[in-house]
Amino acid sequence: MGFRMIDFHSHVLPGIDDGAKNVEESVEILDMMAKAGVEVLFCTPHFYPHKQSLERFLQKRQEAYEKLLPYIKPEHPKLRMGAEILLSSRLDREALMQLRLEGTDFVLIEMPYVHFSQSMYDAFYEVADTEGIKVLVAHIERYLESNSLDEVEELFSEENAIGQINCTSLRKFGLRRNCLKLIRHGFVQALGSDYHRIERGYAMLDEGVEILRKKLRENELSALMQASEQILENKTVEEIYAL
Ligand SMILES: [Fe+2]
Repeated sequence: MGFRMIDFHSHVLPGIDDGAKNVEESVEILDMMAKAGVEVLFCTPHFYPHKQSLERFLQKRQEAYEKLLPYIKPEHPKLRMGAEILLSSRLDREALMQLRLEGTDFVLIEMPYVHFSQSMYDAFYEVADTEGIKVLVAHIERYLESNSLDEVEELFSEENAIGQINCTSLRKFGLRRNCLKLIRHGFVQALGSDYHRIERGYAMLDEGVEILRKKLRENELSALMQASEQILENKTVEEIYAL
């Protein structure tokens, strides 16, 4: 079963958020990812719209990338820029366009870790309805801690959003059960390591795929991995769901 390993969610850029602390740590993580067979890695530092201006964020991200650039090795995954954007009613089209996952029209949106209120759904649908924007919801399994499956699935009801899960969640029984449930309901199209600090010990894509290989049918796993490719090809959400 040949497919590329694409990590859609990471905090690998040095010194920009609570992820890799410096260039040395970034390089060490990239070395491990190369060994794990990761081919494409989205760098998605946290963007908190209520705390930071867009300009400042983009400038800091660029600086972090340029610091890392001289140390990138040919075997490292190809880096693409992005952001993990905390849902906010302040997100206008201009900001969303600049924060897209590089090469696509998808934005990676993080929901607050609480029971979703109507105003959160409203803010979410406003982002998802923005012209030229499609939504990838970050680590959707985590929201099941405060929301029912139906409440999480409501995010996907307008068919302009797809979901990502964290490979580390697949290690733990309860979270793994949630991940598998979401995959079988068709709401997971992307995997991520959500890699922060080495000392915290994250599962990378190889481990995640290995666990899924044991727990899913072959066609379920290949549909997920194919969907990930289609995100890179910037297919519509409808096309991706049709898989
Ligand atoms: Fe994250």
